[in-house]
Amino acid sequence: MKSNLSTLLAQAGNRKDPKTGAISVPIYQTASFGHTGLGQSTGFDYSRTSNPTRLVLEETLAAADGGVKGFAFASGLAAIDAVLHLFHSGDRLIVTEDLYGGTFRLFEQVFRPLGLDALYVDTSNLQAVQKALQSPGIKGIFIETPTNPLLKIADIRTISSWARAQNILTIVDNTFFTPVFQKPLELGADIAVYSATKFLAGHNDVVAGAVVVRTAELGERIGFFQNAIGSILGPQDSWLVIRGLKTLPLRLQKQQENALQVATWLASHPHVKLVRFPGLPHHPGRDILDREQIGFGSMISFEIDAASRVAGILSGVKVFLFAESLGGVESLITYPAVQTHADMDPATRDRLGINDRLLRLSVGIEDVNDLIHDLEAVL
Ligand SMILES: Cc1ncc(COP(=O)(O)O)c(C=O)c1O
Repeated sequence: MKSNLSTLLAQAGNRKDPKTGAISVPIYQTASFGHTGLGQSTGFDYSRTSNPTRLVLEETLAAADGGVKGFAFASGLAAIDAVLHLFHSGDRLIVTEDLYGGTFRLFEQVFRPLGLDALYVDTSNLQAVQKALQSPGIKGIFIETPTNPLLKIADIRTISSWARAQNILTIVDNTFFTPVFQKPLELGADIAVYSATKFLAGHNDVVAGAVVVRTAELGERIGFFQNAIGSILGPQDSWLVIRGLKTLPLRLQKQQENALQVATWLASHPHVKLVRFPGLPHHPGRDILDREQIGFGSMISFEIDAASRVAGILSGVKVFLFAESLGGVESLITYPAVQTHADMDPATRDRLGINDRLLRLSVGIEDVNDLIHDLEAVL
C-alpha cells in the first residue's frame, strides 16, 4: 500500500528489525559486515557503500519525494558536490543568481577552476531563463527555490519542461520547502537536493545532506559518486535525520502558521521597509505557489530602515537566537551579508538586494506571541 506522506514519515524505519521488533530503527554502528563465505554477502559489505541505518533514511527520502533513489550525505554541500560531478570540464550550468552563499562558493571556487561554468540567472524570471537556455554548452540548470535569502520563487514545472526538451538536467535545491510543500520531481525536475541539516532533520543537532533522483540511471551515477567520493552520512546522524523526519509535516505546519503571523506583523512595522515571505499576498511568485498547491514555508527576510540598527537587534533578541542555519524548531535570526553570503562580492550582493539592512528569520515552533514581542522589543 502506498502511504500518504505523514504516515510514511511517522513510520520511517518501523518494522525494519523483525528479530526484536524494535520500533526505532537500530543504529548500525559498524564500518564493515562479515561474510559467511566467498561470494556471500548480507547485502551490506562496507558502510561507505551502504549501511542499514542510512539505507532506511535513503529509502524514506526517495519515497517522500516520489523518486527512484535517495542518498544521504555528510552535508548539503557534500550532496551538491556529488551532483555536480555528473558534469564535465567545459559544461555550463544555469544557476540561480541569489542562491545560498556556500553553493555559490562551491560553483566559483571549486568547480569553476575545474572547468565547470556557472551562468547566473534570476530563475524567478522565465524570460531570463529562456534566454539563458539558448546559450551554448548548457548541460544543466540548478534552481534554488525559494532562494536563500531573498525567497524568490521559480516555476519548476515550466523550466524543467523546457530543459527536458533540450536534454538538459534540472536540479532543484528544495531545502526551504521540503517534500511537504514542494515535490520537484513530480513537477518535472530530475534531481532534488537538500541541506538535511535544516527542516528535514529539524532540531539544529546534525549536519546532513540528501539527493533524490527521478531515474534509475541517475541513481546509478549518484550512487557511484557517493561511494567513490565517500562523503556519506554516518549511522548516528542518519538516525537523527530519520527521527526528525517523523515530525516534519507537523513542524512545518506550525512553523508556517507562526511565520505568517510574524511576517504580517513585520509588514506593518514603521522601521521595516520590506518583508519577503512567500505567504504574503503580494509576494512575487505567489501565483506559482497557489497554482501548484505549494505551501509558503517559514523563512522570512526583511529590510530595516537603517543598517545602524542591525547590531542592536542581533544582540538584543532574547527568544530568537542570533545564529547561522535555519529550519529547526528554534527560531533563528541571521545577517546574510555577513554570515551566509560573505563569499559573494559586495557589488553582486548589493545588486541582488542582499544588503546591509537585510535580516533573515527562520521561524520555529515557539509561541508566536513570544516571537513577536521579542522582535517588537528590539525594533
Ligand atoms: C538552500 C541551501 N542549500 C544548501 C545548503 C548547504 O547545506 P549544509 O550547510 O548542510 O552543507 C544550505 C545551507 O545553509 C542552504 O541554505
